[in-house]
Amino acid sequence: MTNSEIKATLSFSDGSPSLEMPIYKGTVGPDVIDIRKLYATTGMFTYDPGFMSTAACNSSITYIDGDKGELLYRGYPIEQLAVNGGDFLETCYLLLNGELPNAAEKEKFVATVTNHTMVHEQMQFFFRGFRRDAHPMSVLVGTVGALASFYHDSLDINDPHHREVSAIRLIAKMPTLVAMAYKYSIGQPFVYPRNDLSYSANFMHMMFSTPCAPYKTNEVLVRALDRILILHADHEQNASTSTVRLAGSSGANPFACIAAGIACLWGPAHGGANEAALSMLEEIGSVDHIPEFIRQVKDKNSGVKLMGFGHRVYKNYDPRAKLMRETCYEVLQELGLQDDPLFKLAMALEKIALEDEYFVSRKLYPNVDFYSGIVQRALGIPTSLFTGIFALARTVGWIAQWKEMISDPEQKIGRPRQLFVGSQTREVQPIEKR
Ligand code: SDX
Repeated sequence: MTNSEIKATLSFSDGSPSLEMPIYKGTVGPDVIDIRKLYATTGMFTYDPGFMSTAACNSSITYIDGDKGELLYRGYPIEQLAVNGGDFLETCYLLLNGELPNAAEKEKFVATVTNHTMVHEQMQFFFRGFRRDAHPMSVLVGTVGALASFYHDSLDINDPHHREVSAIRLIAKMPTLVAMAYKYSIGQPFVYPRNDLSYSANFMHMMFSTPCAPYKTNEVLVRALDRILILHADHEQNASTSTVRLAGSSGANPFACIAAGIACLWGPAHGGANEAALSMLEEIGSVDHIPEFIRQVKDKNSGVKLMGFGHRVYKNYDPRAKLMRETCYEVLQELGLQDDPLFKLAMALEKIALEDEYFVSRKLYPNVDFYSGIVQRALGIPTSLFTGIFALARTVGWIAQWKEMISDPEQKIGRPRQLFVGSQTREVQPIEKR
Protein backbone atom coordinates (compact mmCIF):
# COMPACT_ATOMS: atom_id res chain seq x y z
CA MET A 1 0.00 0.00 0.00
CA THR A 2 1.53 3.34 -1.05
CA ASN A 3 0.44 6.92 -0.58
CA SER A 4 -0.91 8.57 -3.72
CA GLU A 5 0.35 12.11 -4.47
CA ILE A 6 -3.31 12.99 -4.96
CA LYS A 7 -5.35 13.83 -1.83
CA ALA A 8 -9.13 13.73 -1.52
CA THR A 9 -10.76 16.94 -0.26
CA LEU A 10 -14.22 16.90 1.23
CA SER A 11 -15.82 20.31 1.13
CA PHE A 12 -19.25 21.47 2.29
CA SER A 13 -21.64 23.77 0.47
CA ASP A 14 -22.35 25.66 3.72
CA GLY A 15 -18.71 26.73 3.98
CA SER A 16 -17.93 24.34 6.86
CA PRO A 17 -14.21 23.57 7.04
CA SER A 18 -13.15 21.13 4.30
CA LEU A 19 -11.30 17.93 5.14
CA GLU A 20 -8.30 16.56 3.26
CA MET A 21 -7.94 12.76 3.26
CA PRO A 22 -5.06 10.58 2.02
CA ILE A 23 -5.53 8.22 -0.93
CA TYR A 24 -3.72 4.88 -0.91
CA LYS A 25 -2.79 2.80 -3.95
CA GLY A 26 -2.66 -1.00 -3.92
CA THR A 27 -0.65 -3.14 -6.36
CA VAL A 28 -3.68 -3.38 -8.66
CA GLY A 29 -7.35 -2.37 -8.54
CA PRO A 30 -9.19 0.68 -7.13
CA ASP A 31 -7.39 3.15 -4.86
CA VAL A 32 -8.93 3.89 -1.45
CA ILE A 33 -9.69 7.11 0.41
CA ASP A 34 -8.73 6.90 4.08
CA ILE A 35 -11.78 8.30 5.90
CA ARG A 36 -10.75 7.22 9.39
CA LYS A 37 -10.54 10.84 10.60
CA LEU A 38 -13.95 11.77 9.14
CA TYR A 39 -16.09 11.29 12.27
CA ALA A 40 -13.57 12.85 14.68
CA THR A 41 -13.20 15.85 12.35
CA THR A 42 -16.74 16.37 11.05
CA GLY A 43 -18.99 14.44 13.47
CA MET A 44 -20.40 12.63 10.43
CA PHE A 45 -20.28 9.01 9.25
CA THR A 46 -20.15 7.72 5.69
CA TYR A 47 -23.31 5.92 4.59
CA ASP A 48 -22.82 2.75 2.55
CA PRO A 49 -25.42 -0.03 3.13
CA GLY A 50 -24.16 -3.27 1.61
CA PHE A 51 -20.63 -1.79 1.52
CA MET A 52 -20.91 -1.07 -2.22
CA SER A 53 -18.04 1.46 -2.04
CA THR A 54 -16.22 0.41 1.12
CA ALA A 55 -12.88 -1.36 1.54
CA ALA A 56 -12.94 -2.94 5.01
CA CYS A 57 -9.29 -3.99 5.00
CA ASN A 58 -6.15 -4.32 2.95
CA SER A 59 -5.36 -7.85 1.75
CA SER A 60 -2.83 -9.69 -0.42
CA ILE A 61 -4.73 -12.94 -0.81
CA THR A 62 -7.29 -12.72 -3.65
CA TYR A 63 -7.87 -10.09 -6.32
CA ILE A 64 -10.99 -9.80 -8.49
CA ASP A 65 -11.44 -7.52 -11.48
CA GLY A 66 -15.21 -7.48 -12.02
CA ASP A 67 -15.04 -5.66 -15.36
CA LYS A 68 -12.40 -7.94 -16.87
CA GLY A 69 -13.78 -11.09 -15.22
CA GLU A 70 -10.39 -11.80 -13.61
CA LEU A 71 -9.76 -13.81 -10.41
CA LEU A 72 -6.24 -14.18 -8.95
CA TYR A 73 -5.22 -16.22 -5.89
CA ARG A 74 -1.97 -14.65 -4.64
CA GLY A 75 -1.44 -13.30 -8.17
CA TYR A 76 -2.06 -16.59 -10.03
CA PRO A 77 -5.05 -16.55 -12.47
CA ILE A 78 -7.74 -19.04 -11.49
CA GLU A 79 -7.66 -20.47 -15.03
CA GLN A 80 -4.02 -21.56 -14.51
CA LEU A 81 -4.55 -22.91 -10.99
CA ALA A 82 -7.69 -24.84 -11.94
CA VAL A 83 -6.19 -26.34 -15.09
CA ASN A 84 -2.47 -26.87 -14.39
CA GLY A 85 -1.83 -25.57 -10.88
CA GLY A 86 -1.91 -28.94 -9.21
CA ASP A 87 -4.63 -30.04 -6.81
CA PHE A 88 -6.77 -28.33 -4.19
CA LEU A 89 -4.21 -28.81 -1.40
CA GLU A 90 -1.65 -26.93 -3.50
CA THR A 91 -4.16 -24.07 -3.73
CA CYS A 92 -4.69 -24.34 0.04
CA TYR A 93 -0.94 -24.04 0.63
CA LEU A 94 -0.81 -21.04 -1.74
CA LEU A 95 -3.69 -19.21 -0.05
CA LEU A 96 -2.31 -19.86 3.43
CA ASN A 97 1.38 -19.15 2.73
CA GLY A 98 1.43 -16.81 -0.26
CA GLU A 99 3.50 -19.11 -2.51
CA LEU A 100 2.87 -22.41 -4.30
CA PRO A 101 4.67 -25.28 -2.54
CA ASN A 102 7.68 -27.08 -3.98
CA ALA A 103 7.58 -30.88 -3.97
CA ALA A 104 8.98 -31.24 -0.44
CA GLU A 105 6.71 -28.54 0.98
CA LYS A 106 3.69 -30.11 -0.70
CA GLU A 107 4.53 -33.58 0.60
CA LYS A 108 4.83 -32.26 4.17
CA PHE A 109 1.62 -30.20 3.92
CA VAL A 110 -0.39 -33.11 2.45
CA ALA A 111 0.90 -35.46 5.16
CA THR A 112 -0.02 -32.96 7.89
CA VAL A 113 -3.54 -32.42 6.54
CA THR A 114 -4.05 -36.15 5.90
CA ASN A 115 -3.13 -37.01 9.48
CA HIS A 116 -5.72 -34.63 10.91
CA THR A 117 -8.77 -35.78 8.91
CA MET A 118 -10.36 -37.79 11.71
CA VAL A 119 -12.67 -35.96 14.13
CA HIS A 120 -12.84 -36.77 17.85
CA GLU A 121 -14.84 -39.98 18.28
CA GLN A 122 -17.34 -38.11 20.47
CA MET A 123 -18.22 -35.76 17.57
CA GLN A 124 -20.61 -38.42 16.26
CA PHE A 125 -22.92 -37.81 19.22
CA PHE A 126 -23.56 -34.20 18.07
CA PHE A 127 -25.01 -35.62 14.85
CA ARG A 128 -27.43 -37.83 16.73
CA GLY A 129 -29.20 -34.77 18.12
CA PHE A 130 -30.27 -33.65 14.63
CA ARG A 131 -33.31 -34.87 12.72
CA ARG A 132 -32.24 -37.09 9.84
CA ASP A 133 -33.72 -34.54 7.42
CA ALA A 134 -31.90 -31.56 9.00
CA HIS A 135 -30.35 -29.30 6.34
CA PRO A 136 -26.62 -30.16 6.18
CA MET A 137 -25.74 -26.49 6.67
CA SER A 138 -27.50 -26.50 10.07
CA VAL A 139 -25.47 -29.61 10.96
CA LEU A 140 -22.23 -27.96 9.82
CA VAL A 141 -22.87 -24.72 11.71
CA GLY A 142 -23.40 -26.82 14.83
CA THR A 143 -20.60 -29.34 14.48
CA VAL A 144 -17.92 -26.91 13.29
CA GLY A 145 -18.71 -24.61 16.21
CA ALA A 146 -18.60 -27.66 18.49
CA LEU A 147 -15.06 -28.52 17.33
CA ALA A 148 -13.82 -25.72 19.63
CA SER A 149 -14.85 -27.83 22.62
CA PHE A 150 -12.23 -30.44 21.69
CA TYR A 151 -9.25 -28.18 21.11
CA HIS A 152 -8.66 -26.10 24.22
CA ASP A 153 -4.96 -26.64 23.47
CA SER A 154 -5.03 -24.38 20.39
CA LEU A 155 -7.53 -21.58 20.93
CA ASP A 156 -5.09 -18.77 21.71
CA ILE A 157 -5.48 -16.73 18.51
CA ASN A 158 -2.43 -14.63 19.38
CA ASP A 159 -0.19 -17.71 19.27
CA PRO A 160 0.97 -18.28 15.65
CA HIS A 161 1.39 -22.00 16.33
CA HIS A 162 -2.20 -22.25 17.61
CA ARG A 163 -3.40 -20.42 14.48
CA GLU A 164 -1.47 -22.84 12.28
CA VAL A 165 -2.79 -25.93 14.12
CA SER A 166 -6.38 -24.67 13.96
CA ALA A 167 -6.03 -23.93 10.24
CA ILE A 168 -4.85 -27.46 9.51
CA ARG A 169 -7.52 -29.03 11.71
CA LEU A 170 -10.31 -27.10 9.97
CA ILE A 171 -9.08 -27.80 6.43
CA ALA A 172 -8.55 -31.46 7.27
CA LYS A 173 -11.81 -32.08 9.14
CA MET A 174 -14.33 -30.23 6.98
CA PRO A 175 -14.56 -33.07 4.39
CA THR A 176 -15.07 -35.56 7.22
CA LEU A 177 -17.86 -33.48 8.78
CA VAL A 178 -19.58 -32.80 5.43
CA ALA A 179 -19.48 -36.52 4.58
CA MET A 180 -20.77 -37.39 8.08
CA ALA A 181 -23.67 -34.94 7.60
CA TYR A 182 -24.52 -36.72 4.34
CA LYS A 183 -24.23 -40.25 5.77
CA TYR A 184 -26.36 -39.25 8.75
CA SER A 185 -29.07 -37.86 6.44
CA ILE A 186 -29.34 -41.16 4.51
CA GLY A 187 -29.05 -43.44 7.54
CA GLN A 188 -25.77 -45.00 6.49
CA PRO A 189 -22.85 -45.52 8.89
CA PHE A 190 -20.11 -42.88 9.03
CA VAL A 191 -17.05 -43.79 6.96
CA TYR A 192 -13.63 -43.08 8.46
CA PRO A 193 -11.10 -41.17 6.34
CA ARG A 194 -8.31 -43.11 4.64
CA ASN A 195 -4.74 -41.84 4.68
CA ASP A 196 -3.82 -43.56 1.42
CA LEU A 197 -6.25 -41.41 -0.62
CA SER A 198 -5.87 -37.84 -1.89
CA TYR A 199 -7.95 -35.10 -0.26
CA SER A 200 -10.75 -35.18 -2.85
CA ALA A 201 -10.64 -38.98 -3.35
CA ASN A 202 -10.89 -39.36 0.43
CA PHE A 203 -13.97 -37.14 0.46
CA MET A 204 -15.64 -39.17 -2.30
CA HIS A 205 -14.74 -42.33 -0.36
CA MET A 206 -16.27 -40.99 2.88
CA MET A 207 -19.36 -39.89 0.96
CA PHE A 208 -20.10 -42.90 -1.21
CA SER A 209 -18.39 -46.01 0.15
CA THR A 210 -20.20 -48.41 2.52
CA PRO A 211 -18.96 -51.29 4.68
CA CYS A 212 -20.79 -53.70 2.37
CA ALA A 213 -18.66 -53.48 -0.74
CA PRO A 214 -15.27 -52.18 -1.93
CA TYR A 215 -15.48 -48.64 -3.33
CA LYS A 216 -13.21 -47.46 -6.15
CA THR A 217 -12.96 -43.75 -6.86
CA ASN A 218 -13.27 -42.54 -10.47
CA GLU A 219 -10.26 -40.31 -11.20
CA VAL A 220 -12.19 -38.11 -13.66
CA LEU A 221 -14.85 -37.42 -11.03
CA VAL A 222 -12.23 -36.89 -8.30
CA ARG A 223 -10.44 -34.36 -10.52
CA ALA A 224 -13.77 -32.63 -11.20
CA LEU A 225 -14.49 -32.33 -7.48
CA ASP A 226 -10.95 -31.08 -6.88
CA ARG A 227 -11.50 -28.37 -9.49
CA ILE A 228 -14.82 -27.39 -7.86
CA LEU A 229 -12.94 -26.95 -4.57
CA ILE A 230 -10.21 -24.85 -6.22
CA LEU A 231 -12.79 -22.59 -7.89
CA HIS A 232 -14.59 -21.97 -4.59
CA ALA A 233 -11.52 -21.65 -2.34
CA ASP A 234 -11.51 -17.88 -1.83
CA HIS A 235 -13.13 -14.75 -3.23
CA GLU A 236 -11.91 -11.52 -1.62
CA GLN A 237 -14.21 -9.83 0.93
CA ASN A 238 -17.53 -11.56 0.10
CA ALA A 239 -20.32 -11.73 2.68
CA SER A 240 -19.19 -14.91 4.45
CA THR A 241 -15.51 -13.91 4.48
CA SER A 242 -16.47 -10.52 5.91
CA THR A 243 -18.51 -12.41 8.53
CA VAL A 244 -15.48 -14.51 9.47
CA ARG A 245 -13.30 -11.37 9.70
CA LEU A 246 -15.87 -9.52 11.82
CA ALA A 247 -16.28 -12.50 14.16
CA GLY A 248 -12.50 -12.87 14.36
CA SER A 249 -12.03 -9.16 15.11
CA SER A 250 -13.63 -9.73 18.53
CA GLY A 251 -11.03 -12.41 19.31
CA ALA A 252 -13.45 -15.32 18.84
CA ASN A 253 -11.73 -18.66 18.27
CA PRO A 254 -11.27 -19.88 14.65
CA PHE A 255 -13.87 -22.64 14.95
CA ALA A 256 -16.51 -20.12 16.04
CA CYS A 257 -15.48 -17.77 13.21
CA ILE A 258 -15.74 -20.49 10.56
CA ALA A 259 -19.12 -21.57 11.97
CA ALA A 260 -20.25 -17.95 11.52
CA GLY A 261 -18.98 -17.98 7.94
CA ILE A 262 -20.91 -21.19 7.25
CA ALA A 263 -24.07 -19.61 8.60
CA CYS A 264 -23.68 -16.60 6.29
CA LEU A 265 -22.79 -18.72 3.26
CA TRP A 266 -26.07 -20.62 3.70
CA GLY A 267 -28.10 -17.69 2.35
CA PRO A 268 -29.58 -18.14 -1.19
CA ALA A 269 -28.08 -14.81 -2.31
CA HIS A 270 -24.62 -16.19 -1.50
CA GLY A 271 -23.48 -19.79 -1.21
CA GLY A 272 -27.03 -21.13 -1.23
CA ALA A 273 -27.37 -20.00 -4.86
CA ASN A 274 -26.08 -23.27 -6.34
CA GLU A 275 -28.82 -25.20 -4.56
CA ALA A 276 -31.35 -22.53 -5.62
CA ALA A 277 -30.07 -22.51 -9.24
CA LEU A 278 -30.58 -26.25 -9.61
CA SER A 279 -34.05 -26.03 -8.06
CA MET A 280 -34.79 -23.21 -10.51
CA LEU A 281 -33.73 -25.37 -13.49
CA GLU A 282 -35.85 -28.26 -12.21
CA GLU A 283 -38.79 -25.88 -11.77
CA ILE A 284 -38.43 -24.50 -15.33
CA GLY A 285 -38.39 -28.10 -16.52
CA SER A 286 -37.98 -27.62 -20.25
CA VAL A 287 -36.59 -25.17 -22.79
CA ASP A 288 -40.06 -24.10 -23.97
CA HIS A 289 -40.87 -22.89 -20.44
CA ILE A 290 -37.90 -20.47 -20.47
CA PRO A 291 -39.72 -17.45 -22.03
CA GLU A 292 -42.43 -17.51 -19.33
CA PHE A 293 -39.80 -17.83 -16.61
CA ILE A 294 -37.79 -14.92 -18.02
CA ARG A 295 -41.01 -12.86 -18.06
CA GLN A 296 -41.48 -13.56 -14.35
CA VAL A 297 -37.88 -12.59 -13.62
CA LYS A 298 -38.40 -9.26 -15.38
CA ASP A 299 -41.56 -8.65 -13.35
CA LYS A 300 -40.21 -7.03 -10.15
CA ASN A 301 -43.38 -7.97 -8.28
CA SER A 302 -42.80 -11.66 -8.88
CA GLY A 303 -39.74 -11.72 -6.63
CA VAL A 304 -38.32 -14.31 -9.05
CA LYS A 305 -34.56 -14.06 -9.64
CA LEU A 306 -32.39 -15.85 -12.17
CA MET A 307 -30.43 -17.85 -9.59
CA GLY A 308 -26.80 -18.38 -10.52
CA PHE A 309 -26.78 -15.07 -12.39
CA GLY A 310 -25.47 -11.70 -11.29
CA HIS A 311 -22.69 -10.74 -8.95
CA ARG A 312 -21.79 -7.77 -6.78
CA VAL A 313 -18.32 -7.55 -8.32
CA TYR A 314 -18.38 -9.41 -11.65
CA LYS A 315 -20.03 -7.20 -14.23
CA ASN A 316 -18.63 -9.54 -16.84
CA TYR A 317 -18.62 -13.32 -17.04
CA ASP A 318 -17.49 -14.95 -13.75
CA PRO A 319 -14.26 -16.74 -14.79
CA ARG A 320 -15.21 -19.59 -12.48
CA ALA A 321 -18.48 -20.12 -14.34
CA LYS A 322 -16.58 -20.76 -17.60
CA LEU A 323 -14.36 -23.35 -15.90
CA MET A 324 -17.36 -24.86 -14.14
CA ARG A 325 -19.17 -25.26 -17.46
CA GLU A 326 -16.13 -27.09 -18.90
CA THR A 327 -16.02 -29.35 -15.85
CA CYS A 328 -19.74 -29.96 -16.22
CA TYR A 329 -19.23 -31.12 -19.80
CA GLU A 330 -16.25 -33.38 -18.85
CA VAL A 331 -18.17 -35.06 -16.01
CA LEU A 332 -21.34 -35.58 -18.06
CA GLN A 333 -19.23 -37.02 -20.91
CA GLU A 334 -17.45 -39.37 -18.48
CA LEU A 335 -20.79 -40.54 -17.10
CA GLY A 336 -22.43 -40.83 -20.52
CA LEU A 337 -24.89 -38.06 -19.53
CA GLN A 338 -23.91 -35.59 -22.23
CA ASP A 339 -27.59 -35.34 -23.13
CA ASP A 340 -28.47 -34.44 -19.54
CA PRO A 341 -31.65 -32.37 -19.97
CA LEU A 342 -30.77 -29.99 -17.12
CA PHE A 343 -27.37 -29.20 -18.65
CA LYS A 344 -29.00 -28.52 -22.00
CA LEU A 345 -31.64 -26.42 -20.27
CA ALA A 346 -28.94 -24.45 -18.43
CA MET A 347 -27.05 -23.73 -21.65
CA ALA A 348 -30.27 -22.67 -23.38
CA LEU A 349 -31.18 -20.40 -20.46
CA GLU A 350 -27.67 -18.90 -20.44
CA LYS A 351 -27.84 -18.23 -24.18
CA ILE A 352 -31.24 -16.53 -23.92
CA ALA A 353 -30.22 -14.44 -20.90
CA LEU A 354 -26.97 -13.30 -22.48
CA GLU A 355 -28.89 -12.01 -25.52
CA ASP A 356 -31.67 -10.32 -23.53
CA GLU A 357 -31.34 -6.55 -22.99
CA TYR A 358 -32.78 -6.82 -19.45
CA PHE A 359 -29.84 -8.93 -18.30
CA VAL A 360 -27.23 -7.36 -20.54
CA SER A 361 -28.10 -3.84 -19.33
CA ARG A 362 -27.82 -5.01 -15.72
CA LYS A 363 -24.58 -6.86 -16.45
CA LEU A 364 -26.07 -10.11 -15.19
CA TYR A 365 -23.85 -12.99 -16.25
CA PRO A 366 -23.68 -16.57 -14.97
CA ASN A 367 -21.70 -16.82 -11.74
CA VAL A 368 -19.89 -19.76 -10.20
CA ASP A 369 -23.15 -21.18 -8.86
CA PHE A 370 -24.94 -21.52 -12.18
CA TYR A 371 -23.21 -24.70 -13.34
CA SER A 372 -21.81 -26.02 -10.06
CA GLY A 373 -25.14 -27.57 -9.09
CA ILE A 374 -25.35 -29.59 -12.31
CA VAL A 375 -21.80 -30.92 -11.87
CA GLN A 376 -22.38 -31.85 -8.22
CA ARG A 377 -25.69 -33.53 -9.04
CA ALA A 378 -23.88 -35.60 -11.72
CA LEU A 379 -21.26 -36.54 -9.08
CA GLY A 380 -24.08 -37.96 -6.96
CA ILE A 381 -24.04 -35.14 -4.41
CA PRO A 382 -27.58 -34.31 -3.17
CA THR A 383 -28.81 -30.76 -3.83
CA SER A 384 -29.06 -29.99 -0.12
CA LEU A 385 -25.32 -30.67 0.25
CA PHE A 386 -24.15 -28.29 -2.53
CA THR A 387 -23.62 -25.38 -0.15
CA GLY A 388 -21.88 -27.72 2.28
CA ILE A 389 -19.35 -28.48 -0.46
CA PHE A 390 -18.99 -24.74 -1.04
CA ALA A 391 -18.28 -24.33 2.70
CA LEU A 392 -15.77 -27.20 2.55
CA ALA A 393 -13.90 -25.43 -0.25
CA ARG A 394 -14.18 -21.92 1.21
CA THR A 395 -12.83 -22.95 4.63
CA VAL A 396 -9.26 -22.43 3.42
CA GLY A 397 -10.13 -18.94 2.13
CA TRP A 398 -11.89 -18.01 5.34
CA ILE A 399 -8.94 -19.25 7.41
CA ALA A 400 -6.37 -17.48 5.21
CA GLN A 401 -8.32 -14.21 5.51
CA TRP A 402 -8.79 -14.71 9.28
CA LYS A 403 -5.04 -15.31 9.76
CA GLU A 404 -4.24 -12.22 7.67
CA MET A 405 -6.63 -10.12 9.75
CA ILE A 406 -5.27 -11.34 13.10
CA SER A 407 -1.71 -10.46 12.08
CA ASP A 408 -2.67 -7.07 10.56
CA PRO A 409 -1.36 -4.28 12.85
CA GLU A 410 -4.24 -2.07 11.67
CA GLN A 411 -6.80 -4.62 12.87
CA LYS A 412 -9.41 -3.43 15.40
CA ILE A 413 -12.72 -4.89 16.48
CA GLY A 414 -15.19 -4.22 13.67
CA ARG A 415 -17.94 -1.86 14.84
CA PRO A 416 -19.88 -0.04 12.07
CA ARG A 417 -22.14 2.90 13.04
CA GLN A 418 -25.55 3.96 11.68
CA LEU A 419 -27.83 6.76 10.57
CA PHE A 420 -30.45 6.76 13.32
CA VAL A 421 -33.97 7.44 12.05
CA GLY A 422 -35.97 6.19 15.06
CA SER A 423 -37.73 8.02 17.94
CA GLN A 424 -36.00 10.75 19.87
CA THR A 425 -35.98 10.64 23.73
CA ARG A 426 -39.49 10.21 25.14
CA GLU A 427 -41.05 9.38 28.55
CA VAL A 428 -42.37 5.93 29.45
CA GLN A 429 -46.11 6.20 30.31
CA PRO A 430 -47.74 3.79 32.82
CA ILE A 431 -49.68 1.05 31.07
CA GLU A 432 -53.08 2.54 32.01
CA LYS A 433 -52.11 5.67 30.08
CA ARG A 434 -50.89 3.89 26.88
C1 SDX B 1 -21.79 -15.92 -4.64
O1 SDX B 1 -19.50 -11.81 -3.22
C2 SDX B 1 -19.00 -12.90 -3.69
O2 SDX B 1 -17.88 -12.98 -4.14
C3 SDX B 1 -19.90 -14.12 -3.63
C4 SDX B 1 -19.38 -15.36 -4.34
C5 SDX B 1 -18.20 -15.95 -3.63
O3 SDX B 1 -17.44 -16.69 -4.27
O4 SDX B 1 -18.06 -15.73 -2.40
O5 SDX B 1 -19.03 -15.08 -5.68
C6 SDX B 1 -20.45 -16.47 -4.36
O6 SDX B 1 -22.49 -15.60 -3.70
C7 SDX B 1 -22.21 -15.71 -6.06
C8 SDX B 1 -23.63 -15.03 -6.17
C9 SDX B 1 -24.66 -16.13 -6.02
N1 SDX B 1 -26.01 -15.54 -5.88
C10 SDX B 1 -26.94 -15.73 -6.84
O7 SDX B 1 -26.73 -16.30 -7.93
C11 SDX B 1 -28.32 -15.23 -6.44
C12 SDX B 1 -28.90 -14.40 -7.59
N2 SDX B 1 -28.08 -13.18 -7.70
C13 SDX B 1 -28.55 -12.02 -7.03
O8 SDX B 1 -29.26 -12.18 -5.86
C14 SDX B 1 -27.60 -10.83 -7.12
O9 SDX B 1 -27.12 -10.80 -8.39
C15 SDX B 1 -26.42 -10.75 -6.16
C16 SDX B 1 -26.88 -10.85 -4.74
C17 SDX B 1 -25.46 -11.84 -6.45
C18 SDX B 1 -25.74 -9.41 -6.38
O10 SDX B 1 -26.64 -8.44 -6.02
P1 SDX B 1 -26.25 -6.86 -6.06
O11 SDX B 1 -24.84 -6.65 -6.46
O12 SDX B 1 -26.70 -6.26 -4.77
O13 SDX B 1 -27.06 -6.34 -7.28
P2 SDX B 1 -28.54 -5.93 -7.20
O14 SDX B 1 -29.32 -6.93 -6.41
O15 SDX B 1 -28.61 -4.49 -6.80
O16 SDX B 1 -28.98 -6.10 -8.74
C19 SDX B 1 -28.80 -5.06 -9.67
C20 SDX B 1 -30.00 -5.19 -10.60
C21 SDX B 1 -31.35 -5.10 -9.88
O17 SDX B 1 -32.30 -4.66 -10.83
P3 SDX B 1 -32.76 -3.10 -10.83
O18 SDX B 1 -33.17 -2.77 -9.40
O19 SDX B 1 -31.52 -2.33 -11.26
O20 SDX B 1 -33.89 -3.01 -11.82
O21 SDX B 1 -30.01 -6.49 -11.21
C22 SDX B 1 -31.15 -7.21 -10.78
C23 SDX B 1 -31.68 -6.52 -9.54
O22 SDX B 1 -33.09 -6.73 -9.41
N3 SDX B 1 -30.68 -8.56 -10.48
C24 SDX B 1 -31.30 -9.67 -10.89
C25 SDX B 1 -30.47 -10.72 -10.46
N4 SDX B 1 -29.40 -10.22 -9.82
C26 SDX B 1 -29.56 -8.88 -9.82
N5 SDX B 1 -32.46 -9.87 -11.55
C27 SDX B 1 -32.76 -11.16 -11.81
N6 SDX B 1 -32.01 -12.23 -11.44
C28 SDX B 1 -30.87 -12.04 -10.77
N7 SDX B 1 -30.11 -13.09 -10.43
